[in-house]
Amino acid sequence: MKKPEIRKTVQLGLLGLGTVGSGVYEIIQREARAIEVKTGVHLVVRKICDKYLSQTRRAALPRGIFSPDADALLNDPTIDIVVELIGGIHPAKEIIEKALKRGKHVVTANKALLAEYGESIFGSAAKARREIGFEVSVCGAIPIIKSVKEGLISNNVSHFLGIVNGTCNYILTRMSQDGMDFDAALAEAQGQGFAERDPRLDVEGIDSAHKLAVLARLAFRSEIPFGAVFVEGIRGLSVKDIRYAKELGYTIKLLAIGKRLKKNLELRVHPTMLPDNHPLSGVRGVYNAVFLHADQAGDLLFYGKGAGKLPAASAVMSDIVDIAKKIARNDRTDALTGIRPGTIPVLPMKDLRSRYYLRFQVVDKPGVLGRIAQTLGRNHISILSVQQKESHDQKSVPVVFLTYEASERNLRSALARVDLLDDVTEKTVVLRVES
Ligand SMILES: NC(=O)c1ccc[n+]([C@@H]2O[C@H](COP(=O)([O-])OP(=O)(O)OC[C@H]3O[C@@H](n4cnc5c(N)ncnc54)[C@H](OP(=O)(O)O)[C@@H]3O)[C@@H](O)[C@H]2O)c1
Repeated sequence: MKKPEIRKTVQLGLLGLGTVGSGVYEIIQREARAIEVKTGVHLVVRKICDKYLSQTRRAALPRGIFSPDADALLNDPTIDIVVELIGGIHPAKEIIEKALKRGKHVVTANKALLAEYGESIFGSAAKARREIGFEVSVCGAIPIIKSVKEGLISNNVSHFLGIVNGTCNYILTRMSQDGMDFDAALAEAQGQGFAERDPRLDVEGIDSAHKLAVLARLAFRSEIPFGAVFVEGIRGLSVKDIRYAKELGYTIKLLAIGKRLKKNLELRVHPTMLPDNHPLSGVRGVYNAVFLHADQAGDLLFYGKGAGKLPAASAVMSDIVDIAKKIARNDRTDALTGIRPGTIPVLPMKDLRSRYYLRFQVVDKPGVLGRIAQTLGRNHISILSVQQKESHDQKSVPVVFLTYEASERNLRSALARVDLLDDVTEKTVVLRVES
């Protein structure tokens, strides 16, 4: 019998030599030999493309390897895998689609692209029968994609809660541990290089929603229309609520929440109160973590660095090596098995059932709390506890309610009335509570 052909050299085209790209290049320079010993595959970076590289950086690269033009990579028939590390939707989408059409496999870090155009990108990969690796797109160094795709292959994932944005977790940690307000904590994060100069994608929850969409697609085997993910960031969060939550035994985290209900998916990103003894409550600083429940494996906790040159590059390498091994073995089995999804409808946010923390700011006089409680009651919201907090403000006092589980629709209609009461001086603060 004829032995299958074994190709030992796999050639890469690296697109983007920024933070992650330079980490990948550095690891390949350092570890290619060790990887060859472990896998039998020799990885070679054949071409590098970046919009701009200084003369000094170009001079440090082997001759002829660099090009400012992505076509140099796409038109090279000897390149097996295109590694897209430029980020953004355009031209990353067009480049990836072209690469797939030309028979190249793709590794990408681009969560925004996969979240917003996943159907089209995965569809193009399936049509071309080429692999697409995206481990690094969710939680950087944490091997969550591989774990869900392979380690949990015989499981059904019922839900996951993730701290998937290190910038927000850093800010919330500083606010919670040191009483810093949001602006000061953000400025510090920017100073330390943990937040972008334009932090909107992070603090408004969009980056977390991108990761949620990518992970949910895989975990629940469903197409995820990105617009159906509910997103609320941390910008409006006050130190006061973080402190009151703490007094009640809760920690506030920005969570990406995915749940498989009977007929729907729950997909939401928002600041969430978690009991202090929940495994995610102790995740501090820039660290990421995902708490996941699968029917056979039970509860699982993934923890690690969600960003950074080498942590992110480590995850990219895992995809590169996996695909390279398949190329070397001439293995044509479809790596996308398990992520060929159906479409499970996403639960509209107004149909969510949750427990709530409510902070009312009210004039300190008899009868006010009664009126609020009555309005909540009329809207089928049962109160678990009420605490009036001390205040040095003459005009109003904070009153914190915890509710039993209630529907978001009822809550919204109750608050629309409460916020119109003469004795309620500010818009009510609402936080959802998970256990
Ligand atoms: N940084 C992390 O820790 C991390 C972790 C997980 C995932 N990711 C993802 O990884 C990707 C890359 O992130 P990064 O932090 O490495 O970004 P980065 O440092 O900004 O690097 C991107 C590089 O690509 C270049 N570039 C941009 N558009 C290009 C184009 N059209 N053609 C050629 N080169 C182009 C940029 O050049 P200019 O600077 O001149 O624009 C830059 O050198 C993003 O999708 C990001 O979401 C990053």
